[in-house]
Amino acid sequence: SSSLRLGIAGLGTVGIGVVKIVQKHADLLAKRSGRGITITAISARDRMKNRDADISAYRWESDPMAVAQAEDVDLYVELIGGDNGIARDSIEAALRSGKDVVTANKALLAMHGQELAELAESLGRVIRFEAAVAGGIPVIKTMTESLAGNGITRVMGVMNGTCNYILTRMENAGLPYEAVFEEARQLGYLEADPNLDVGGIDAGHKLAILSSIAFGTRVNFDAVEIEGIERVSIDDISRAADMGYRIKLLGVAQMTPRGLEQRMSPCLVPADSPIGQLAGGTNMVVVEGDSVGQIVLRGAGAGEGPTASAVMSDVVEVARGVRLPVFGQPAAELDPAKPARTAVP
Ligand code: NDP
Ligand code: HSE
Repeated sequence: SSSLRLGIAGLGTVGIGVVKIVQKHADLLAKRSGRGITITAISARDRMKNRDADISAYRWESDPMAVAQAEDVDLYVELIGGDNGIARDSIEAALRSGKDVVTANKALLAMHGQELAELAESLGRVIRFEAAVAGGIPVIKTMTESLAGNGITRVMGVMNGTCNYILTRMENAGLPYEAVFEEARQLGYLEADPNLDVGGIDAGHKLAILSSIAFGTRVNFDAVEIEGIERVSIDDISRAADMGYRIKLLGVAQMTPRGLEQRMSPCLVPADSPIGQLAGGTNMVVVEGDSVGQIVLRGAGAGEGPTASAVMSDVVEVARGVRLPVFGQPAAELDPAKPARTAVP
């Protein structure tokens, strides 16, 4: 059959990573998709910027809207970012003009994912976002495909590599929070608004997306109880270590008698547990299914290759013609009563 034609908006870390994979693995992708995957149109802010890939064969559009609505685009790949504005507007425009959408935009999905998913469904389109949660770790497809025969009982994990780096480095180097925060800034790890990382908000976004898929509920970021790592002191860390524990910014989502509990906060975890052993900048997601038991996924939660890898898994899924909605249906909405606090193992 005919090639799937991509329009890519955003040619930064992730966008260029996607371009590189499409170029490098054209044959592999065609084999795995059953059809070719090509790029027709692209957009970013600055046309003159030097990009780390040859993009001269693709039509440049100065406005992402033109990519989203182009007649020669089947799948709109949004890699601009931002929880509103052009990212959201262009995704809506793409859906309305009959295109499927792939995005890595965790902030947008946490805030408006439900509306976007419902819009997509009402138009007979799909929106996919494997890269939005834990970067390269294929956690969404693990739950929806590989664990399709399971009721998910709990999902938890470390979903912000920057916070994990900061906490690990504080422990290993014996440095205070402020000093390590500064290091992380200099290494370029922090989001443009660092509070998204250290305030637990970015990880909270990811947990909201993940738990809606795990439990078939609406995405509800407001229901995530969030505490950041700003107040974790070197004393807290060394006292925890004395007792055989580490402090991790841990997200937990589970069904309780009072509804869905979603919590992202610094937690004590046994130093010899998989999460306790997790190295600096990486992510880990633990999924519990009622038949399979516990599955542990670990890998890079950010960066060009890992994030583009996850984006491409969605592109291939769309190319194969998989059209099931991913987010929960309105009927599955839960009692919004404040979730009860429960212990973390
Ligand atoms: P970057 O900041 O590296 O790239 C953003 C791109 O969007 C740039 O190419 C920029 O253009 C373009 N852009 C910005 N504003 C506009 C606009 N108004 N019109 C057209 N283009 C615009 O971001 P990332 O690649 O890091 O992130 C992209 C998305 O992926 C975000 O939603 C992010 O949260 C998500 N993500 C990123 C991860 C990562 O490791 N980086 C991990 C997981 C998710 P120009 O280049 O010309 O400035
Ligand atoms: N700031 C995020 C992190 C980037 O540190 O995990 C990946 O989403």
